[in-house]
Amino acid sequence: MVDIGAGHGASEYSPFFAEIATHYTGVDLDEDVLENQWVTEQVHTSAEAFGERHQAAVDAGTAELFDLATAIYVWEHHPRPTELLRAMYDVLAPGGTALLITPNGIHPFGLASKVLAKTGLTDTVLRKLRPEEIDHYHFHVEATQNTPWSVRKCAVEAGFAAVDIDLHDEPGVFRPYLPERLHFLPDVYSRAIAVTKLDVLSGTLIIEVRKANGHQR
Ligand SMILES: C[S@@+](CC[C@H](N)C(=O)[O-])C[C@H]1O[C@@H](n2cnc3c(N)ncnc32)[C@H](O)[C@@H]1O
Repeated sequence: MVDIGAGHGASEYSPFFAEIATHYTGVDLDEDVLENQWVTEQVHTSAEAFGERHQAAVDAGTAELFDLATAIYVWEHHPRPTELLRAMYDVLAPGGTALLITPNGIHPFGLASKVLAKTGLTDTVLRKLRPEEIDHYHFHVEATQNTPWSVRKCAVEAGFAAVDIDLHDEPGVFRPYLPERLHFLPDVYSRAIAVTKLDVLSGTLIIEVRKANGHQR
């Protein structure tokens, strides 16, 4: 498998993939990936450059295509997410799966991220709310095309045959961005969308896309 935007490997999912993958490649624009202890191979470059390089290596017979490509909380940092998906498509074997997670652009958090990104205020606001995050672990936010219908459109444009989007709402994800006296809000919101069955307003998009068997874009 390949994890695009693998980062330094401190996230909870890295040990899980390290256990199940026979070969785990981590790719990231940020040099922190070189400290990622969970991956078998650390590649310090962009998804796009990796896609081209890996395809050339496959053509030369020195590398194999991947069964699984992941990009966890990377979509919202990419200015053109279809290009991210294309790079993932290009390194996947026929029948392979790509799995991505990103905040939903129509959840209040997603909407706020979009407005802050457009007005250039992300860093200022984050510095007030989560100073520890901005100093140690913050990447430029684009928050573009991260609604369920835009994701579907991008996935089809990138060549994927099947698109499955799971809408997930976990209040704990958003609590740390709010002052303590407002920590109840994400729970109230979550209960409200469950009662009204407005799943489309959930906080997180879990995206699974598949490449057709023998399919070429
Ligand atoms: C919020 S971090 C997520 C890291 C890790 N996946 C996690 O969930 O902890 C986003 C990562 O995506 C990387 N990234 C953004 N655009 C990228 C691109 N075009 N190619 C490769 N990595 C990219 C950033 O450098 C950063 O490490």
